[in-house]
Amino acid sequence: MPKAIGIDAGGTLTKVAYLDKSNELVLVTFPSNDLQTVKKWIIEHPDIEDIGVTGGRTEQLLDVIKTMKSIHYIVEFEATLKGVRFLLNKEGYFFERSIITNIGTGTSIHYMEGNAHIRVGGTGVGGGTLIGLSALTTGITDYNNIREMAAGGNREGVDLLVKDIYQGMDTPIDGHLTASNFGKVGITKSTNHQAEDIIATVQGLVGEVITTLSIQYAEEKNTQHIVYIGSTLSNNEHLTCVIANYTRTKKHTPVFINDHGFSGAVGALLNITEYTPV
Ligand SMILES: Nc1ncnc2c1ncn2[C@@H]1O[C@H](COP(=O)(O)OP(=O)(O)OP(=O)(O)O)[C@@H](O)[C@H]1O
Ligand SMILES: [Mg+2]
Repeated sequence: MPKAIGIDAGGTLTKVAYLDKSNELVLVTFPSNDLQTVKKWIIEHPDIEDIGVTGGRTEQLLDVIKTMKSIHYIVEFEATLKGVRFLLNKEGYFFERSIITNIGTGTSIHYMEGNAHIRVGGTGVGGGTLIGLSALTTGITDYNNIREMAAGGNREGVDLLVKDIYQGMDTPIDGHLTASNFGKVGITKSTNHQAEDIIATVQGLVGEVITTLSIQYAEEKNTQHIVYIGSTLSNNEHLTCVIANYTRTKKHTPVFINDHGFSGAVGALLNITEYTPV
């Protein structure tokens, strides 16, 4: 049983990281709207002595667990960058400079150089937008249903591509790029679309907005690699492809890491332990 754990209480999900007996990282997720389950889990692990905490819902989490153990707070962006640097190195990546785009409920974008980092910007378009817009347009609210449906959807009848506008002419930019997300609907007056296709298009919108912004920061900072993290990417091959393809089209290199959702929790854990991977 772990003596120390890291917790990242985010807008949607609360992530926990700790080391098992063989010094392997173990990662667990809870919904942030049910922090009692986190408390229950801590009670079930009585060996825990120290808890590193981070994330926007830290106060709410502490209301539930504060009297239980020794608590060590670390600011969210510090924890995220500490964690992502560690996870990148663990997977063999050592970038002198990179853009880190954290697609959580909302999206936060950072520039990392060596051991230094700054938050360069962000957008309210994130995982929360993916769920919110999918729910409002199709009635489907479950993240796993959403990502599965997006994978089987087709954006062709909904998005307007550059080549759809420049009919019979050379296009000034790649004709397959999106000219207008959802733009074909207004032009064709077609409002009858399959839920799969609408959700795939929502996911395209979310992915492209985030990628566009990340690329602008990468260019401003003269940085080749963009590391995309956050639980919105979890088992979500369609979104990952949207982001990867668009990043490559714009001549940058997308990087995805295995434990992409847990940078904050790992950073909160590292803040209270001296961990070197086995
Ligand atoms: N089991 C799940 N339940 C709900 N959303 C999920 C789930 N798995 C992945 N997601 C997606 O991940 C997003 C949350 O990502 P993440 O956990 O990185 O954000 P957060 O830390 O909660 O939010 P923030 O950092 O903005 O405070 C959700 O908006 C949703 O799109
Ligand atoms: Mg987060």
